[in-house]
Amino acid sequence: MANEGFTLWFTGLSGAGKSTLATMVAQHLRQRGHRVEVLDGDEVRTNLSKGLGFSKEDRDTNIRRIGYVCQLLARNGVIAISAAISPYRAVRDEVRRAHTRFFETYVRCPLEKLVERDVKGLYKKALAGEIAHFTGVSDPYEEPLEAEFTVDTSIENPEQSLGRLISALELQGFISRDGVRP
Ligand code: ADX
Repeated sequence: MANEGFTLWFTGLSGAGKSTLATMVAQHLRQRGHRVEVLDGDEVRTNLSKGLGFSKEDRDTNIRRIGYVCQLLARNGVIAISAAISPYRAVRDEVRRAHTRFFETYVRCPLEKLVERDVKGLYKKALAGEIAHFTGVSDPYEEPLEAEFTVDTSIENPEQSLGRLISALELQGFISRDGVRP
């Protein structure tokens, strides 16, 4: 049987909607019979990457760890979903190269909108200079140049993003239209 596993890699600024979309797509794919695991940025930092900070070096270590676990899961038939900012292109591409099947999704949202939403109150603090090296404010974010897919959460709601993402996964042959176990 063909290996159905692959890694669905979300990247984007804090608060753009990576975790929301990851949770929704995971639920959807499970209902269709896939085995799915989500590695969420905030959650990973409380266990697998506990103790790491937000320097470039620490972020790269964090992403390499997540990428490694995703790769192990994916090669064993699981759809591994990562939802970390992963701001640096080079390490994202390094993770991509370690995979046979990799689907990068850019969760885009303009900074103005994120500052407006500010769900966790972190942008306010970052703009006031209370959090150093905050991605998008005082630390870089390198947009993907060739992501398999992009959603813009400032112009579409989560259900619309989910619907378009599922169609893209089907069209690009990552999942079948009828699910694994019809
Ligand atoms: S990553 O850069 O290593 O991919 P990750 O996704 O794990 O980041 O963690 C991002 C989360 O950490 C943010 O959503 C936010 O809640 C929190 N955070 C705390 N400090 C920072 C910071 N300086 N830059 C970005 N996010 C931060």
